[in-house]
Amino acid sequence: MHEEFINFIRYYLGPTTEYFSCLGFIIYALAMCRIMTSVLTLATQSLFSRNLGWMSRLTYLGEWAVITGSTDGIGKAYAEELAALGLKIILISRSPEKLAAVAKEIEEAHKVEVRTIAVDFSDNESIYNKIKNELKGLDISILVNNVGMSYPHPEYFVEIPNRTETLSSLIKLNVVAMTMMTSIVLPDMVKKNCGVIVNVSSASAAGPCPLLTAYSACKAYVKYFSEGLSAEYSDKGVVIQCLMPFYVTTKMSKLRKSSAMVPTPTAYVKSSLSSLGISSCSFGYWSHNFLGWFTKTLPRFFLTCKKRKYNSVFPNLMKETGFSYWFKYFTCRLWGGMVLNWISFMMLVTLTISVLASS
Ligand SMILES: NC(=O)c1ccc[n+]([C@@H]2O[C@H](COP(=O)([O-])OP(=O)(O)OC[C@H]3O[C@@H](n4cnc5c(N)ncnc54)[C@H](OP(=O)(O)O)[C@@H]3O)[C@@H](O)[C@H]2O)c1
Repeated sequence: MHEEFINFIRYYLGPTTEYFSCLGFIIYALAMCRIMTSVLTLATQSLFSRNLGWMSRLTYLGEWAVITGSTDGIGKAYAEELAALGLKIILISRSPEKLAAVAKEIEEAHKVEVRTIAVDFSDNESIYNKIKNELKGLDISILVNNVGMSYPHPEYFVEIPNRTETLSSLIKLNVVAMTMMTSIVLPDMVKKNCGVIVNVSSASAAGPCPLLTAYSACKAYVKYFSEGLSAEYSDKGVVIQCLMPFYVTTKMSKLRKSSAMVPTPTAYVKSSLSSLGISSCSFGYWSHNFLGWFTKTLPRFFLTCKKRKYNSVFPNLMKETGFSYWFKYFTCRLWGGMVLNWISFMMLVTLTISVLASS
């Protein structure tokens, strides 16, 4: 049967069999290179980054670390990890009592100076004059733009509770705070030719996120802002990193139990800090890197289905999208954008057969 099949292919391809074999080999080699590059990138980001990254250099870049939203969750973990490296810390957050408590905790644990600035980032722009004055003349090594908020729960846009106020705060915390803090700190970093800025975005910035639409759009701003700025200033010694976490066990995520997929803030920050200078845009944690890589390979309709309203994507996918969507997807999308992929795929199949035939 096998012989018959090979003879059939040889007959079918005739004298072109060997050319197809060569082409098949080249396509296989390219595909293997692509897979190897992906695996190596993931491995570098997840396993070896601690030894290769910029973390150990932070104390040479300046004396101070500035962290926004630093009395809880990811921000607090950043403050603790940076203090452990020996940096002096400036905590910027909303509640004065929590600021005082966290400052005391860090001072006692790490024997470094800690200052606090109490501001509510949902207030008007005058808060930035206060912050600017407090930071004046300080030699800042790293700024972590961490403060952010989401809606209380996933919701249709017009049904967001206290819509006007919530949306205003959402934009002020996620977009304005990061932009203004960068505007305050970056000029001195550019002058001294070194510094690090970490902007905490979210995995929801990887694509549109129905029912968290405004949040994911704000986080997409953070991502684009970081990538653009990184291109502008990487040759001026300033490292800008965008982080896109999936779930982390914090007050915001309302998740308490950590797991391989949902790290604690400390585990997340240890990992993301070690990828500083290695990846300018990272999911920040080994399992998040894999999830992120997988998410990027998914077709757009997976990202845009209103899955967050339900517990499971799959049972609702057909119901939600309906036949007309799938028809449109297979006719327009595959026929248009992915036509080249299909040609390559067909070539690959033919070439595989021809390689088999010539062996
Ligand atoms: N946790 C996740 O699963 C997750 C996933 C993706 C992205 N992120 C992003 O990670 C960042 C940190 O999130 P988190 O989960 O660590 O949050 P969190 O645990 O809720 O902590 C938020 C911090 O920000 C401060 N804050 C909140 N509103 C403020 C305001 N109006 N003005 C000043 N400070 C304010 C809080 O101070 P108070 O204690 O005084 O309120 C607290 O210190 C956010 O940008 C978020 O979008 C988180």
